[in-house]
Amino acid sequence: MSGAAQKAQPAVGRLDPTERLLRSCRGQTVDRPPVWLMRQAGRYLPEYRKVREGVSFLEMCRDVDRAVEVSLQPIRLVGSEAVILFSDIFTPIPGMGIEVDFRPGPTIAEPIRSREQVEKLRVPDPQESTPFVFEILRVLRKELADSRIPLLGFAGAPFTLAAYLVQGRGSKDFGELKRMMYAAPSILRALQSTLTEMVVGYLNAQIAAGAQVVQLFDTWAGLLGPAEYREWVLPVHAEIAARLDRDRAPLILYVNNGAHVVDEMLESGADVLSLDWRVDIAKAARRVGDRASLQGNLDPCALAQSREAIFASVRQIAQAARPARGHILNLGHGCLPDTPVEGVRAFTDAARALGGEGLDEA
Ligand code: CP3
Repeated sequence: MSGAAQKAQPAVGRLDPTERLLRSCRGQTVDRPPVWLMRQAGRYLPEYRKVREGVSFLEMCRDVDRAVEVSLQPIRLVGSEAVILFSDIFTPIPGMGIEVDFRPGPTIAEPIRSREQVEKLRVPDPQESTPFVFEILRVLRKELADSRIPLLGFAGAPFTLAAYLVQGRGSKDFGELKRMMYAAPSILRALQSTLTEMVVGYLNAQIAAGAQVVQLFDTWAGLLGPAEYREWVLPVHAEIAARLDRDRAPLILYVNNGAHVVDEMLESGADVLSLDWRVDIAKAARRVGDRASLQGNLDPCALAQSREAIFASVRQIAQAARPARGHILNLGHGCLPDTPVEGVRAFTDAARALGGEGLDEA
């Protein structure tokens, strides 16, 4: 790149990791993009597998010491600059009266197919149903105080939770869910509305317990075409965005397979749109401009590249995202069990290197 094209770094000094992430979420000037990875605490790390030995995944989510330990591992092991609560989108589901198991993916004992089943669901008091989640967050905040590494909370979005609850397990096309959407829309509407109540209470309780940013995961909303997304998903995201304590914690909205609904994601009012690798981030950045920040969007499989190639990919993504008001480096989806640890390390190092070199003018 030619020296003449280099943009002078904005007049901010070196930021601490919390300021860098929060400012990026809100579109304020930063020294360089912050970096973390979805599913950064997981089976690709031998140290994670060691802590996970002898306990089931659900037990681990409830075990405060183990959950804290694995949440923190990615700071030291791969240089991540944010910690995400170790848990799962299904953690708050048993409290609603639904039995869930992991084999290894989520499995619902009695999939929801009728109005009676929806009417029986409870919206639990989060403190009673998942006290361990808030304890994990409180302990993490204490552990992170000195390093000023920020803490993220999260929840599954109602559509994605409903997808599993209706289907009973993971699926390529979630045929049972779609059947309900078209043949019994009022049942799915009631289910999403109960799940929305749960998610709002659960995320606000995470913010009260110390989560500084919250991310809503809508892994399966991209199954819908734009018109159906607008009807079934956008209003739910907008309601959640409106009811969260966003003065205290900005909201990141992740939609997998959502290249065709970036405009609708923007309309939700979320502070940050988290994009998968199928989205042209340059186009999305021009589209969102100063209305939202972006997060993403390297293909997790690209972490199998050489260190040099990962540096080049990161630079290219950061450059392409410049027209957006802010950018958080992340993957387009979570780390996979076969993700090479060196690749993850190269990814976070590449983000730090952007601080030294600067990027071209947007
Ligand atoms: O990002 C993080 O590091 C935080 C922890 C986190 C997990 N799951 C841990 C986990 C988060 C944010 C999730 C979100 C989640 N869980 C989503 C939405 C995001 C996405 O990935 O699309 C979904 C759809 C789930 C449901 C889920 N949980 C599935 C499908 C599986 C099985 C995956 C597999 O390959 O076995 C899980 C289990 C799970 N959640 C693991 C982890 C680390 C693996 C558990 C293990 O066996 O140790």
